Amino acid sequence: MNGKHVDQIKKEIWQEYLERTPASLKHTQAAKNFMPGGDTRSIAFYTPYPFFAVEGKGSCLYDADGNKYIDFVNNMTSLVHGHAHPYVMDAIRKQTKKGITHGVPVEAQYKLAELICKRVPSVESLRFCNTGSEATMFCMRVARAFTGKEGFLKMDGGYHGGHDFVQINTTPDLATEDLPKAQATKGVPACTQTDVFLAPFNDLNTVERILKDKAEKIAAIIMEPMLGAGGGVPPQEGYLQGMRELADRYNVLLIFDEVISFRVHEGGLQAMADVKPDLTAFGKIIGGGFPIGAFGGRKDIMEMFDPNKPDSITHSGTFSGNAVTMAAGYANLEIYHQKDVDRINTLGKRLTEGFDGAFAKTGIQGGTRGIGSLAGIAFTDKVLKDSKDVVLSMIPYMELMQYLHLEMLNRGIFFLHRGMFTVSTPMTEIEIDKAIKVFEASLELLKPLAVKIQNQ
Ligand SMILES: Cc1ncc(COP(=O)(O)O)c(C=O)c1O
Repeated sequence: MNGKHVDQIKKEIWQEYLERTPASLKHTQAAKNFMPGGDTRSIAFYTPYPFFAVEGKGSCLYDADGNKYIDFVNNMTSLVHGHAHPYVMDAIRKQTKKGITHGVPVEAQYKLAELICKRVPSVESLRFCNTGSEATMFCMRVARAFTGKEGFLKMDGGYHGGHDFVQINTTPDLATEDLPKAQATKGVPACTQTDVFLAPFNDLNTVERILKDKAEKIAAIIMEPMLGAGGGVPPQEGYLQGMRELADRYNVLLIFDEVISFRVHEGGLQAMADVKPDLTAFGKIIGGGFPIGAFGGRKDIMEMFDPNKPDSITHSGTFSGNAVTMAAGYANLEIYHQKDVDRINTLGKRLTEGFDGAFAKTGIQGGTRGIGSLAGIAFTDKVLKDSKDVVLSMIPYMELMQYLHLEMLNRGIFFLHRGMFTVSTPMTEIEIDKAIKVFEASLELLKPLAVKIQNQ
C-alpha cells in the first residue's frame, strides 16, 4: 500500500487526466456555447468532462489528443464487433452507393426480420423502428391494444428508454420497505404513475401480490430478463420461468426488453433461459452500429400492425427500416453466431474472474456480476439481487468509482463510469488481461480512499 494521502492521490489522478486531454477540454468549452453543459447524451457524460473521440478501430478508441483506449463501453454495449468492423463497413459502403433510405420497402428489411425471427423462437413477426426506446414503447402500445388494459408492471429501477411510461422509477425507491412507490422522472406527467406498478427484480412474491390485486388493470409485465441498464443483475434460478407462469396465470402479457441482453446468446437471454415472452424489444447490436430498434413476438399480437386490416395500429418513423441500417444490422448478425457469442462470453468470464482476483489481492471489498460479455463491478462482496441492492451498494462509493474510472482512463482502459464493462469480438485474452492488470494497479493506488470510505 502506498503511503500517500488520499487528497494527494485524487489530485494527481485528476491532474493527469487534465494533462492528457487538453484537446477534449477545448472541445468541451466550445460545445458549451451551443449545448447545455456541452452535452447531448446524459449517459455519456462524466466529470470533469468526457474525452472526445476522433476514431474507433477494432477494440480501441482514439481521442482528440491521440490517446488510445481499449474500449469496454462499446457505445453502451451496442458495438458487439467493436469499431468499424471491415465486414460491416463493406456492407455499409455497398449500400450507401445505392442510396440510404428510399421511402418504400427494401428487401433488406425482411431479410433482417427473417434472421432475427429464426434466431429467437418467440418472435414470429417483427417491425423496425429507430431506437430501443421506440421498441419498448410500441411493445407497450400493442399490449394495451391487444388486451384492452392500460396498466403495466415494471421492475423497480428498470430502464427501458426515454418515453414517459417507462420513465418511472428508473432509479429504485430506496425509502420503502414494502411495495416500491411510483415516482416519475422530472418533466414526466404525474398521470403516468397511476398505471405503472412496481416490483423489485428477482422477486416473484411481490409480482404475484400485485397481480392478484391489479391484474384486471395490467396489460403486461415489462422487464429485462437481466437488469442490464439497471446494474447487470442476472435472474435467479427459476425467476424468468416464474414470471412466465405468473403472466399466464393472471392473464397479462410478458414483454422482454432484450435491447442489451440480446448479445449474450444467439437467440437472446430468453433462449439461454428457455423462456418465451409474448413480445420482445430489440435495439443496439441488431443495427450494426446504426440507430435501430425492433419489436416483435406472437403473430396474433403483431398482426394488429398489419395495414391491410381495418383499425390497424399505425407505426411509422421516417427512418424506420432504412436501407443502410438494415444492411449494417444484417452484416453484423451474419458474423455473430453462437460460437462468436461463446468466445466473448468466455472472455467476459475471464474478465470477471480477474477482477474478483484483483479485489482479493488488494484486500478491497468488492465483486463482479453480469452475464456473458456483460460485466459490472461493485464495492461489495454481497450478491446483488435487484436494483435497490445495486444502488445502495454504489452510493457510499461514488467517489471511489469516479477516481477508479479516471485512473483507468489515464492508463488506457475505457469503461462505463457506473462500473460496467462490455466485451467485443475484436478483443482477445490480451485486452482482457491488460484490463485486469490496470484494474488491479488502479485499485492498489486507490486503496487509501477505499479504506477511508469502508471505515466511515
Ligand atoms: C434495456 C434498455 N432498454 C431500452 C433502451 C433504450 O434504447 P435506445 O437508447 O436505443 O432508445 C436502453 C438503452 O440503453 C436499454 O439499455
